[in-house]
Amino acid sequence: MSTQLRDTIDVEQVRKDFPILTSLRPDGKSLVYLDNAATTQRPRQVIDALVDVYSTRYANVHRGIHWLSDQTTDLFEEAREKVRGFIHAATPEEVIFTHGTTESINLVARSWGDANLKAGDEILLTELEHHSNIVPWQQAAARTGAVIRWLPIADDGRLRLEMLDELLTARTKMVAVAGVSNVLGTVNPIGEIAKRAHAIGAKVLMDAAQWAPHLPIDVQALGADFVAFSGHRMLGPTGVGVLWGRRELLEAMPAFLGGGSMIRRVRKDGFEPAELPAKFEAGTPPIVPAIGLGAAIDYLNAIGLDNIARHEHMLAARAHEVLSTVGGVQLLGPSLEHKSGIVSFTVEGIHAHDVAQLLDRHGIAIRAGHHCAMPLHQRLGIPATSRASFYFYNTPAEVDLLGVALQDAKRVFRRG
Ligand SMILES: Cc1ncc(COP(=O)(O)O)c(C=O)c1O
Repeated sequence: MSTQLRDTIDVEQVRKDFPILTSLRPDGKSLVYLDNAATTQRPRQVIDALVDVYSTRYANVHRGIHWLSDQTTDLFEEAREKVRGFIHAATPEEVIFTHGTTESINLVARSWGDANLKAGDEILLTELEHHSNIVPWQQAAARTGAVIRWLPIADDGRLRLEMLDELLTARTKMVAVAGVSNVLGTVNPIGEIAKRAHAIGAKVLMDAAQWAPHLPIDVQALGADFVAFSGHRMLGPTGVGVLWGRRELLEAMPAFLGGGSMIRRVRKDGFEPAELPAKFEAGTPPIVPAIGLGAAIDYLNAIGLDNIARHEHMLAARAHEVLSTVGGVQLLGPSLEHKSGIVSFTVEGIHAHDVAQLLDRHGIAIRAGHHCAMPLHQRLGIPATSRASFYFYNTPAEVDLLGVALQDAKRVFRRG
């Protein structure tokens, strides 16, 4: 896709909705926020929704038999319905509110993993996973005796799909894969992977932390069995995430956390779990964050995920152009048609942390380090990368500023 594509988002108008984007830093610099893969900013509409609940309609959900609790419960369940619509799930019962992607994946690794994995079974991960989609499986493997295998990436950061059939065996029970790499921006062919995994009877979990905020998602069409994502990376509050799972799988899985709300009955000698989704929502759920996520989804729907994907692609294309003109910058990851709005790079002779600090002097916020993807960095043979990640409120001018600031960083570093 080229930078010539028509942009359908009125970014200047949109930015007025985000108080933090129009405020100045204490040093008087405008904020150029290019760290959206870590977390996004919130529009006034989401902030107002939070203030409104706390001001007028806040109580605990489900348990109270009073007007205020009914009000909050209605808002909470409306939010679930908004998530259902956003991901095109068949029923709201398949939408479990968790505290984030990490918890959603842990839920599956614990509940589904412990019930379905045994010694010698295989879990297939890929070399580009975030630690949140590695460590829970390593823990599950340690508990059950299952073995982890790795689908490698090619040098351009795309998965080596030609090795998939060799790695998928009768022992493979789970394929857990990121929809979009949080470092390389690689958009993985989940449908294709799911088809081949299902052919040998394996289940598929998609880590959608970097997909759901940026690309349209239809869980029924996608082919995965479980999908996990976080609210805070899509304009919502921290502390809320989603696990979607196929109903028959969720119904067959044992409860994850135990406590209030997740039971139908408790006796001295045991308990009966509640129906979905309550079975997986032990304790007081993230009530207000979930309602805030509902408001975020309203906002994203009004802009349109197709428009968001197109705008970010345009920004990534511009970043490739701009950064290619800065000498000594190596862009990582695949070509533009295979990547989202995440652009990671190295600068010859300057450590990624120094790059980030020098850019910060220009008001530019990027992320530097291993981005919770150490095995990927080991594969790339570099300890750390710099990452600029875009959202629909970023502008081409901000991308250009990144180029100018990088030139300056190189000058400063050479002098120093
Ligand atoms: C691909 C991916 N998966 C999982 C996570 C973990 O998300 P959270 O910290 O919101 O649980 C992240 C965080 O950056 C991520 O990028």
